[in-house]
Amino acid sequence: MKAIRFHEFGAPHVLRYEEAPTPVTKPGEVLVRVKAAGLNPPDWYLREGYKALPPEWRPSVTFPAIPGSDVSGIVEKVADDVTAFSVGDEVFGMIRFPSFGESLGYAEYVSAPASDLAAKPRHLDHIHAAAVPMSGLTAWQFLIELGHNEQNPLQSERHSPVPLAGKSVMINGAAGGVGHLALQLAKH
Ligand SMILES: NC(=O)c1ccc[n+]([C@@H]2O[C@H](COP(=O)([O-])OP(=O)(O)OC[C@H]3O[C@@H](n4cnc5c(N)ncnc54)[C@H](OP(=O)(O)O)[C@@H]3O)[C@@H](O)[C@H]2O)c1
Repeated sequence: MKAIRFHEFGAPHVLRYEEAPTPVTKPGEVLVRVKAAGLNPPDWYLREGYKALPPEWRPSVTFPAIPGSDVSGIVEKVADDVTAFSVGDEVFGMIRFPSFGESLGYAEYVSAPASDLAAKPRHLDHIHAAAVPMSGLTAWQFLIELGHNEQNPLQSERHSPVPLAGKSVMINGAAGGVGHLALQLAKH
């Protein structure tokens, strides 16, 4: 298959459009023919080698790496033990986040754990669907679901959701990737 990979950390020029092995579908996984991939900050943190983190926190990355956690596409194949999806289903999702050098979505195919995928809403095309998972989950988890069970070492406060019914919600940066989804969730 064709994929966008990088063999070393660096600026966008390290990304190469090249031949790569089509991923093998393991138990519990679904092979997705990628129609669109989203771009999120962790894709470039990975590409740059997490240089904003202190060296002792930087994860080790396997090269060559294919970035792209967020995808939308069509199910090409399902492992024998997967019952949730069938060949031809349209799906989207955030795949194996966080991962450090695995084969992700900037490729013709990605093999994804079935639990990382959901049925793509019919009224969303693949390009819009691929833009939703990470920023949508960020807004969903902060606003609606429980936050971290364990305190994030980068933040002093533990996240805890507050019931929104009857409340006014102020969203700073409501035109941004996370903000416009947080706005719609709060309104809903
Ligand atoms: N994207 C994700 O999946 C994700 C996941 C986890 C956490 N986060 C975090 O969530 C935050 C937002 O990320 P994003 O991806 O949504 O970024 P984004 O698309 O760049 O959106 C940022 C928004 O903030 C606005 N903004 C910037 N500076 C501001 C200021 N001084 N006062 C008020 N508004 C300001 C921007 O407005 P203008 O466009 O007018 O500049 C933009 O609407 C970041 O801290 C990011 O690290 C993002």
